[in-house]
Amino acid sequence: MAFIRGVVLYVTLLSSLILTTRSCPFHEPGYDISKVDWDAKVANNIAARALSHHQASPGRIAINNVRVFDGSTLLAPGTVIIENGKIGGPCSGETCNTTQSYDGQGKTLLPGLMDAHAHPADCYDLGNMTQFGITTSVNAFCLSPKICESLTNYKGLTSLLSASFFATVSGSEHAALISPNYDDLLIGNTSVAESWVAGQIKGGADFIKLIGSAPLRGNPPVPGLSQAEQAALVMASHNQGKQVVLHTSSYKSYEQGIIAGADQIHHSTLDVPIDDKLVALLKIKNSTKVVCPTLTMMRAIPKQNKTGSFLPAADTVRILHKVGIPIIAGTDSNSGGDLPAMVPFGTSLHDEMENLVGVGLSPVEALNAATIMPAQYFGLNDRGVIKEGMRADLLLVDGDPTKDISATRNIIKVWVEGMEFNATVTKGMCAKYASKEAQARGNTSTGSSRSTSTSTAGAMRVAATLFPEVFPAGLLAYMALQ
Ligand SMILES: *[C@@H]1O[C@H](CO)[C@@H](O)[C@H](O)[C@H]1NC(C)=O
Ligand SMILES: *[C@@H]1O[C@H](CO)[C@@H](O)[C@H](O)[C@H]1NC(C)=O
Ligand SMILES: *[C@@H]1O[C@H](CO)[C@@H](O)[C@H](O)[C@H]1NC(C)=O
Ligand SMILES: *[C@@H]1O[C@H](CO)[C@@H](O)[C@H](O)[C@H]1NC(C)=O
Ligand SMILES: *[C@@H]1O[C@H](CO)[C@@H](O)[C@H](O)[C@H]1NC(C)=O
Ligand SMILES: *[C@@H]1O[C@H](CO)[C@@H](O)[C@H](O)[C@H]1NC(C)=O
Ligand SMILES: *[C@@H]1O[C@H](CO)[C@@H](O)[C@H](O)[C@H]1NC(C)=O
Repeated sequence: MAFIRGVVLYVTLLSSLILTTRSCPFHEPGYDISKVDWDAKVANNIAARALSHHQASPGRIAINNVRVFDGSTLLAPGTVIIENGKIGGPCSGETCNTTQSYDGQGKTLLPGLMDAHAHPADCYDLGNMTQFGITTSVNAFCLSPKICESLTNYKGLTSLLSASFFATVSGSEHAALISPNYDDLLIGNTSVAESWVAGQIKGGADFIKLIGSAPLRGNPPVPGLSQAEQAALVMASHNQGKQVVLHTSSYKSYEQGIIAGADQIHHSTLDVPIDDKLVALLKIKNSTKVVCPTLTMMRAIPKQNKTGSFLPAADTVRILHKVGIPIIAGTDSNSGGDLPAMVPFGTSLHDEMENLVGVGLSPVEALNAATIMPAQYFGLNDRGVIKEGMRADLLLVDGDPTKDISATRNIIKVWVEGMEFNATVTKGMCAKYASKEAQARGNTSTGSSRSTSTSTAGAMRVAATLFPEVFPAGLLAYMALQ
């Protein structure tokens, strides 16, 4: 949702509020994504990830007497086995042969939650998501592939899918957020679509991110992708086997995205709700499959900005739900920098489920919107449901969230691929190199310049220089192969 001009000034204000609760060096007043020393941050991330892989793997775990949410209801109390990071087969008594067991009496076991739209930047952000039961998330923007890559594959923390760089044009609100050094990634015309998409896929993009044009403000309006450019990017993405996620915030950009054939629309409308005309268009085109309204962000923006209202955004979702357009849960959670309002990691997905119930989804629909549905719409067939052979991404809560959605907040335990989350251990892991990252800032790249080590291998070399103790030669060689 990163779209405001003058974001630096705005964020200065915002961060002075955030600083009272968050003291991480990343979250400083005046924080600006184009000025972060990404080499130092990536090196820190890679070091923390290496530490996560030093943790021992868990044994065979049983969760007994637990009611399992099966996607529509709670099953009668039974045992769930976790084995080699996956859900094991049925067993009882002695034959379960577990190394650890938990009594799940009176509790509910949910598939790990998925936040379909977030902007994590470091280990702490992953730690906060995991702590609140989010075992999978979507990194909704990658300034460069190595930044997104450095947040993937942590053992025992939220696993991430990664967007591409955002497709937008020179002079757009989003283009204003990045340094001029990234100008070669802006879309000049339709003929660059195929090669631009190919470049993003080569860099590791799991899907292609488009910024809808038709912003709310400006007279004449600030530039954005034309209808033809959107269509060309959608076609190029589909030709190359990737789906398109379109960022929007207005009625007009919903319309353009639907016409262009975007597979997913993210955010809701801040200006006016969608109407019968757009609903008819959605049905006729039949190419936009799901909407991720990020109501938590849509609620935060008018509140933060003291102008506008949450009502259009809420009404849009009410209408989409009524006509049967699938809705998935996402938050736009961020570190307070590149985005128009602060939405914290982790707790915000629980806010989002409550927001979804507030606009008419049942608690069961809200749970599905944060588990099986985003997994399916993002092509993750190994999770989102508690079934033998699936990833053991699990959330144990007190109470019955199918009756009262706020019960998802009563978190007892979280497992990511069978690893039980431990906040103390995670904080230690995240903190270990954070101060060194602060020292290293400015040493590896200069201010707003585009980072010199654009590849993961380059970032690995920086990490090895900064954090030699976690990168003995053997480990470095091993990780280079990953
Ligand atoms: C139980 O687990 C242990 C260690 O994993 C194994 O050596 C043993 O054979 C298992 N027993 C049964 C009955 O499966
Ligand atoms: C959550 O984020 C805050 C701020 O960055 C950090 O201090 C805290 O350690 C994080 N929690 C975890 C479990 O990583
Ligand atoms: C399209 O843009 C690219 C790069 O921005 C440029 O090299 C090319 O000449 C342009 N083509 C047309 C037809 O304008
Ligand atoms: C819409 O598209 C889906 C595939 O994405 C297809 O299964 C369905 O039949 C289509 N519906 C109509 C009315 O064409
Ligand atoms: C916030 O309000 C200011 C002043 O009314 C306006 O210029 C700005 O565009 C608004 N930002 C958002 C994200 O709506
Ligand atoms: C988390 O790990 C710490 C340090 O190893 C340990 O003392 C603590 O008991 C663990 N907490 C839980 C809930 O297992
Ligand atoms: C970064 O540079 C400063 C001074 O130039 C130095 O004191 C510091 O040790 C350097 N940090 C690293 C990690 O090399």
